[in-house]
Amino acid sequence: MWMQTEPLDQHLSNDVVSLFRLIGQMANDQGYRVYLVGGFVRDLFLQRPSQEADIVVEGDGPSLAALFGRMTGWKITVHKRFLTATAVAPDEGSSLRRLDFVTARQEVYPRAGSLPVVRPARLTDDLLRRDFSINALALSLNQDDFGCLLDPVGGWQDLRRRLIRVLHDKSFRDDPTRMLRAVRYEQRFGFRMDRKTVRLMKEAIRQHFLATVSRDRIKAELLKVFQEDRPGKILLRMKDLGLLKEVAPELRVTARTIATVNLFLKRFQDYQKKGAGDLKDRTSPLMALLLPDEGAAVSFAQRFQFSERWLRNVRGLIQVAREAVLNQPSDFVFALRSLPPEMALAVSVLRRDVSPRQWRRYFFDWRLVRPDVTGEELTRWGLKGKEIQEALTVALRLKLDFKADPSLQRAFALLGRQPNRGATPSEGGNDGRDNS
Ligand code: CTP
Repeated sequence: MWMQTEPLDQHLSNDVVSLFRLIGQMANDQGYRVYLVGGFVRDLFLQRPSQEADIVVEGDGPSLAALFGRMTGWKITVHKRFLTATAVAPDEGSSLRRLDFVTARQEVYPRAGSLPVVRPARLTDDLLRRDFSINALALSLNQDDFGCLLDPVGGWQDLRRRLIRVLHDKSFRDDPTRMLRAVRYEQRFGFRMDRKTVRLMKEAIRQHFLATVSRDRIKAELLKVFQEDRPGKILLRMKDLGLLKEVAPELRVTARTIATVNLFLKRFQDYQKKGAGDLKDRTSPLMALLLPDEGAAVSFAQRFQFSERWLRNVRGLIQVAREAVLNQPSDFVFALRSLPPEMALAVSVLRRDVSPRQWRRYFFDWRLVRPDVTGEELTRWGLKGKEIQEALTVALRLKLDFKADPSLQRAFALLGRQPNRGATPSEGGNDGRDNS
């Protein structure tokens, strides 16, 4: 862990330090004070470099950003109403991708759970409005005190003691979504809340402060939980604290369901590494794996306004996992083809009766197989509409389950009938089971 007095230069690459020094110089020219704050500073001290930084300006944040943009070529977007501006690095390879320039502000909460009203203020007011002490650290960028740490609430000490601590007794009342953030940080960093923070959280839960917050804001925080590396630990902790039932009573979080979630995460990463590039959305299948039945899925989708399509996929997952007969390769392909690949992967961790090897074959081979007969060809032979679909299905089944050659596929497709599925395949048959 670094000493409080060590300068920024020793912990960041030269190009990033030069950018920060430039911002400090520009601020001096304008008569502003300027600081790095929040998550970037926290992560710097935890040696978890971040590509995005928040910069608080005692002065005019957007105009400093505009000046910075003109000097460096970073792309600036100004949000006048919020006294903020975003700067995006011109080159994608940069170790720093995005800077948010914020005019130092005070936030006043007109009532519990509502969005705050924003007023310009000094840095200390800005730090004091924040969620936890470890997020209330600032590093000065001005020329005269470049790299000096400002720590009005003892955040540095809490980082060393590995503590998540609210800054005042009304913190969870002002913003109940902070309860989810506290648990997320605890589990992400291996920290723990101090006793008072736990007590305040339990009180906030008992008094149902979360009910004052819009569903959209709760949804946004819940999605962040699922985007963390280890969502299972966060959810178990939420359950222990009594927070889970306030947020989403539909989610069934037990040692068993979390083991399934963890298996999913492992397989997702493994398959992505092996080249399954179409596996993208991790979040939806993770949530789906914790919804025990269709009733829970419907209620959860309504609560958080998930789309019809989202719900259809989750229901599909529940049904296929429960009912599908998965023996031959074509069983897998036809049962799973209406699901997005991520949901099919979720089925794979629920169906322990199917071996991992078979799932690998489904993902990397069977689901990519196409029949050797084309729709065009079948049209030329006089087939129409639904007949074509049926014929293609027959051809694909033959190819997958019996490794039938193109002429055999064509013959059966035109006859419109399938071989007896109980029959022994004649040429290089494959019953889809994992015999090895
Ligand atoms: N913040 C807060 N209360 C909230 C949300 C955010 O006080 N409900 C403050 C914290 O100081 C936080 C900063 O705003 O550090 C930026 O918020 P955000 O980008 O959500 O957090 P990060 O700290 O960057 O965390 P993460 O690493 O999860 O993105």
